[in-house]
Amino acid sequence: MISTVEKVLFLKGVDLFSAIPGEDLSQIAQIADEVDLDAGELIFKSGDLGDSLYLIVAGKVRVHREEQEIALLGERQVFGEMALLDSEPRSASVTTVSDVTLLRIQQEDFADILSEKSEIAQGIIKVLIRRLRGQLDKQK
Ligand code: CMP
Repeated sequence: MISTVEKVLFLKGVDLFSAIPGEDLSQIAQIADEVDLDAGELIFKSGDLGDSLYLIVAGKVRVHREEQEIALLGERQVFGEMALLDSEPRSASVTTVSDVTLLRIQQEDFADILSEKSEIAQGIIKVLIRRLRGQLDKQK
């Protein structure tokens, strides 16, 4: 079980939240729920409705469509933000590659912090751009 203090220390190391002061991070830590999963578990599948985003505290997950791998994500990376932001179905499936510990933030809570903290909105834009650039590089 991760304590609130440990969650705050973890959040400080996540790009998305790096510009957020400590006291605000403890507010975010309180709305972030720990999720522990074994290797090989499907977290959600492409086409599902999405009401949460996830931060990877430990372990690795695979983003895929059927058997086609789109990305491998590890510690301090975020996933599940897309469906949360545009309310469209999940763009891909995500399955654990190892045992993982995640922090889950629900849509309504995230919408609140997003509207209060423009730094987080900027962080999300950076994540999306990085992923777009990654996809473009793959096509080279
Ligand atoms: P969402 O569409 O909610 O659910 C699937 C998630 O996979 C998506 O949010 C992103 O978090 C992640 N994802 C989709 N495409 C990529 C990509 N090209 N690189 C890394 N992660 C991705």
